[in-house]
Amino acid sequence: MNVTYCISPGGKLTGKIKVPGDKSISHRSIMLGAIAEGITEVSGFLEGEDALSTMNAFRAMGVRIDGPDLGRVTIYGVGKHGLTAPNQVIDCGNSGTTMRLLSGLLAGQGFEVTLTGDDTLLKRPMARVANPLKQMGALIETKDSGKPPLTIHPNSHLNGITYTLPMASAQVKSAVLLAGLYANGLTTVIEPEVTRDHTERMLEAFGYKPKVNGNSITVDNSAVLHGTSIRVPSDISSAAFFMVGAAISEGSDLIIEEVGINPTRDGVIKILELMGAEISLLNVNYVGGEKVADIHIKYKPLTGIHIPEELVSLAIDEFPVIFIAAANAKGTTILSGAEELRVKESDRIQVMADGLMSLGINAVPTSDGMIIEGGSYHGGTINSHGDHRIAMSFSIAALNATSSITILDCQNVATSFPGFDKLAKSTGLEISVS
Ligand code: S3P
Repeated sequence: MNVTYCISPGGKLTGKIKVPGDKSISHRSIMLGAIAEGITEVSGFLEGEDALSTMNAFRAMGVRIDGPDLGRVTIYGVGKHGLTAPNQVIDCGNSGTTMRLLSGLLAGQGFEVTLTGDDTLLKRPMARVANPLKQMGALIETKDSGKPPLTIHPNSHLNGITYTLPMASAQVKSAVLLAGLYANGLTTVIEPEVTRDHTERMLEAFGYKPKVNGNSITVDNSAVLHGTSIRVPSDISSAAFFMVGAAISEGSDLIIEEVGINPTRDGVIKILELMGAEISLLNVNYVGGEKVADIHIKYKPLTGIHIPEELVSLAIDEFPVIFIAAANAKGTTILSGAEELRVKESDRIQVMADGLMSLGINAVPTSDGMIIEGGSYHGGTINSHGDHRIAMSFSIAALNATSSITILDCQNVATSFPGFDKLAKSTGLEISVS
């Protein structure tokens, strides 16, 4: 199915909304719930295609999972050694998180499994997980190019390693830590830059606390996980579209409820604040070890900034929409140190620069970022290249365009944000879908 968005220019975002559950946390709730002893009850689960790919993968490996039903999921954990061989290839769809984390979790199992995905996922780099897992003794094959499909052969003899991440990647970190739950000896991941720590936090919620020492995280195979209750907060990566929309459109005043503001994910708040946005955090609280707050954001003119590199990994999924903020800011915004954006669901540096330039914004892509001159822009047709975050970012851009924006290839918005168009419409965006 090919989905096209058409957004009329103008409007402002107002009201009180709730965006869907956090994607990273939803994936991990299924994975850890499946290998835990006993029952795990999840609420606020993201009913998006990516998280459903993870759910289907575990069903194929013999785990009973009920739901999702209005965000509620029940997982009947089979214990660390209770997964069974799937009788077909596991399709991870568009989801890099499913493929990479599963690679680690399945590296030490007693059965063979092949992981595949859609055309986009088949182009994404997997050597980054296969290499450390091979160092642990995993028998894992990729295509010669290091791309999927991946085949993981049975192996009950993984050995712990100490691995320094060559790139800031929570997926690689998590894959190695999950394999470490099955390995002899200690498995330590050293991260030169902070990345999202949901795996570590959720292991703790399941009763096993990884040893964290500065920037190193250690696990071992003594971990026994116990079923628990997980309340998934709303996804800050989904909230970010509305935060930017409200920040750039005159008269906006929006509250986004119960959003996860884990300090390893809050870069978008810090970057928008540095650009001058008026943001306040209300009802700050903790749910299941994760910090949450209602985010209140009002229109206020933004100014271009040089984005501090230490914020890059804390906002890695939000750059497409931060580029839209930059296009609406006074002056120049410079991003560097973000080469990882080139290997996301699309090359987000090139695709965003192409889209912005086609609207009349001066955007210069660099090897690891972009230089954007804020200014006024017209409408036009944008190719999202099947990347959900590109599609939603340009939808938000339409608030300040002088004519309508049409966005092609939007079907993958459903991977992370089912119902985006309806929610956006309820806040004031003039969006229609065909
Ligand atoms: C994720 C980690 C990030 C992020 C992705 C989800 C996770 O990927 O971009 O959307 O859940 O661990 P990398 O680890 O490749 O940076």
